[in-house]
Amino acid sequence: DAESDSMLRVNHYPPRPELQGRLLTGFGEHTDPQVISVLRSNGTSGLEICARDGSWAAVPPDPDSFFVNVADAMQVLTNGRFRSVRHRVVVSSERPRVSMIFFGGPPFGQRLAPLRQLLGDGGRSRYREFTWKEYKSSTHKGRLATDRLCSFEN
Ligand SMILES: *[C@@H]1O[C@H](CO)[C@@H](O)[C@H](O)[C@H]1NC(C)=O
Repeated sequence: DAESDSMLRVNHYPPRPELQGRLLTGFGEHTDPQVISVLRSNGTSGLEICARDGSWAAVPPDPDSFFVNVADAMQVLTNGRFRSVRHRVVVSSERPRVSMIFFGGPPFGQRLAPLRQLLGDGGRSRYREFTWKEYKSSTHKGRLATDRLCSFEN
């Protein structure tokens, strides 16, 4: 869709020798806004995901696969069944890292709400209907780590 809010991003995390083995946050914790993200790094670790108990787990790089991430709009479409995963990037003192991420997003005018088929019998919708444009303008107000879906909950 030519109107879709999709993009490809390339991130470069240069090595930081002055860290002397300590880790530094290269990209702060956040969830991705779009529907789905497809990531690949150049064989270098650094990506971490937040588990349900709040601990961070490293995602090892795999040259034979893509890392597919559920993003906020997917959480809404599935009524919370698929969770948008918080993640961050840590940088190291020695290894430079390059990552490429495709973010698949809807057009700005697209209305988003949980799919009726996923509500189940008598299930209630956790989110009110909103447009992608509304969501995007709300993201500019909050900080990176903010849970942006809160304001769209029923
Ligand atoms: C990743 O990319 C950086 C920057 O181009 C490069 O210096 C580094 O050697 C690459 N790492 C691997 C494992 O290919």
